[in-house]
Amino acid sequence: MTNSLALVEVAAIAPGSGRTIESDGQRYAVFNCEGTFHVIDDACPHRGGPLGAGYFEGCDVYCPLHGWAFDVRTGACKSNPGRPVRAYPTHVRDGQVWIDR
Ligand code: FES
Repeated sequence: MTNSLALVEVAAIAPGSGRTIESDGQRYAVFNCEGTFHVIDDACPHRGGPLGAGYFEGCDVYCPLHGWAFDVRTGACKSNPGRPVRAYPTHVRDGQVWIDR
C-alpha cells in the first residue's frame, strides 16, 4: 500500500537545482529538472553519498563523493547500470512537492 508524503515547498527548489530533504526519518533528494520535480533516495548506492548535494546538470546528478551519475527522472545509474537508486512517483499539489512511497 502506498501513502503520500509532502516533502518541501515548490518555491524552495529553483529550476536546475536540488537538495536533500529529511522527512519521516528518511533522506530524499529532490530536484527541479526543467520545471518538473523528481525525487530519489538521497543515499548513493555506492557508499551512501548525499545525492541531494551533488552537481546537477540537465536531469542528471553527480554524486559528490565519487561522481557516479544518476538520471533523477528514473533513478538509473549511468556510471554503473546495475546500481540504480530508487525513484519515487512525484507530483505537485497545494504548492508542495509530494511523493508516493
Ligand atoms: S558514494 Fe556515490 S559515487 Fe561513491
